[in-house]
Amino acid sequence: MYEQISHSLLNQILDQLTPEIRKCDLRHFYTRLGANFYAIHSLFSQLYGERDDFKQQMLRLVEVMARQYLQRDEVLKEVDIAREKHHNWFLSQEWVGMALYTDGFAGDLQGLSSKASYFQELGVNMVHVMPILKCPEGASDGGYAVSDFRDVDARVGTLEQLRTVAGALRKRNILLTLDVVVNHTSDEHEWARRARAGEQTYQDYYYIFDNRDVPDMFEETMPEIFPETAPGNFTYDEAMGKWVMTVFNHYQWDLNYSNPTVFIEMLDIILFWANQGADIIRLDAVAFLWKKIATTCQNEREAHLILQLMKDCCQVTAPGVLFIAEAIVAPVEIIKYFGEDAVIAKECEIAYNATFMALLWDAVATKNARLLDQGIRSLPDKLNRATWLNYVRCHDDIGLGFDDADIVQAGYDPYPHRRFLVDWFTGQYADSPARGKPFGVNEKTGDARISGSLASLVGLESAMESGDPVAIQRSIDLILLMNSLIMSFGGIPLLYYGDEVGTVNDYDYINDASKANDNRWMHRPRFDWELAELRHKHGTVQQKIFTGLQKMIAIRKTISAFADYNNRELLDTGNPHLFTFMRSNPFKHGDEVLVVANFDSSPQSLTLSDLGPRARFDYSQLRDLYSGESPRMFKDQLVIPPYRFYWLSDKELP
Ligand code: GLC
Repeated sequence: MYEQISHSLLNQILDQLTPEIRKCDLRHFYTRLGANFYAIHSLFSQLYGERDDFKQQMLRLVEVMARQYLQRDEVLKEVDIAREKHHNWFLSQEWVGMALYTDGFAGDLQGLSSKASYFQELGVNMVHVMPILKCPEGASDGGYAVSDFRDVDARVGTLEQLRTVAGALRKRNILLTLDVVVNHTSDEHEWARRARAGEQTYQDYYYIFDNRDVPDMFEETMPEIFPETAPGNFTYDEAMGKWVMTVFNHYQWDLNYSNPTVFIEMLDIILFWANQGADIIRLDAVAFLWKKIATTCQNEREAHLILQLMKDCCQVTAPGVLFIAEAIVAPVEIIKYFGEDAVIAKECEIAYNATFMALLWDAVATKNARLLDQGIRSLPDKLNRATWLNYVRCHDDIGLGFDDADIVQAGYDPYPHRRFLVDWFTGQYADSPARGKPFGVNEKTGDARISGSLASLVGLESAMESGDPVAIQRSIDLILLMNSLIMSFGGIPLLYYGDEVGTVNDYDYINDASKANDNRWMHRPRFDWELAELRHKHGTVQQKIFTGLQKMIAIRKTISAFADYNNRELLDTGNPHLFTFMRSNPFKHGDEVLVVANFDSSPQSLTLSDLGPRARFDYSQLRDLYSGESPRMFKDQLVIPPYRFYWLSDKELP
């Protein structure tokens, strides 16, 4: 938008750019800057407009965008332009992701390069390489406490090797996702060291207080993220003799985004990683970016302004790069991280669907889909040009963050229901085969979350121990059932490394002092490549899961109705054990797939004619696209075996 104040400032800024920048070819940069400048200026003034140095800060911001643009590789600039042309590319059903720790999965970056064929074998074409930046040896929170944002940790390799990985993946049309930990740094980061040494400039990078007056006010309303191991939100730093805000672990210092220098530094870092070849950048812990007394310090309006500003600036320099919002917050809050707009994502194009993930686990424990159905119905429609990252497990714990009102609507009492879920997955409940552990137990509030690998949580670990073939098969069926839903729901399914071969909990973390008090490490395994070889041996657990997923992925990619265009309709079946929805091809009328999942241990029936005009299939032609088989039917009644899913259509796949 053209607006006089911002435009005249833009003219001034362009005149002040250094000659070295001005003599370069900045054609695309200028058109994008012109398009976004009004928004950038208005966001930057909302956040920092009161400051005397506002104009200088704006100039620095533009310089950072220009410099990073000049450093952007020609190949990446071509990708940017191609993606501009096909702006809906990431809504396609052709993308399937996997998240992994480089060391756990492949030893190091060189090892990772050699595993590209494994991704292709499975069908994965988006790889989230979890933090690999320089971090302290012990106090690193799995890499989420960064001590140098521009260097790769020597334990996994070098920056050069990362670029090689990026290139190798790009050749195979595999997207690379990298983390930028925007909310905090390690206390060993240079900024923190200099703050500790007394430099005011760097103390202003963080929230640092002389005494407990302000911290005590914050504590009145701030929840605790790691109540067992890092209670409270402030840490006393002996060397400085001051209190530092540390929302996560005591060694993770929260960055102060009310300081524009911090914003500009972090934007520069985001663009730096975009220029190393990242297609997608995962912005960690975005809900926490703005702090305000008398609030939870999560989901504040300014946190959204910061993300909008990051997006607007990134579009100027590297418009092909997408953002993932890691905001594990209440369902109505998560959706806001797409940015509130009519059509396009104004903040992050992709967001973790933590609501769906937790609801899936609820359905597993209760053997019914009542809360799952209710929770998804309450989830507002996402923007057209934004998509979910749907997952079953990841490197973090499972938080039971669904809405209390939905729990009540589904017929449960919120507090005892959450208790039941924790008991179920930690094996405290009679009959539960799960082997999870409680995580983040807060004695004051009674809250708890759950750690454990997918296989162990669905009972595979205990079933293999007892050697019970029925229980083993049930666990495999559950693994495939849960995955069938993230593959068909709409959005990018994100597998977690090891789950594709049924990796159970790894209890070795207990022997490492730096990990022993964080049981999330039990589901961050060292990938067992020997065991994974069993995926080629017919009849093994590994083979059943791996080939099941491989087939699911291959078939997903051919079903246009699974692309994500708000083309999902939940259907009321009257049978609480079933989760049922219709997906329709946005580009071809009448091309529809009916997804049915049975969470119960007994077969369930579904009367198709009850679904009304939305499910008018030719029953005689009905086929499960996954198995290729015709489902068992009696007249218009469909029978769904225990823990099974169907992707039903009466048409041939193209
Ligand atoms: C994110 C990460 C989690 C980490 C936290 C603090 O939530 O996923 O692993 O502990 O941020 O950085």
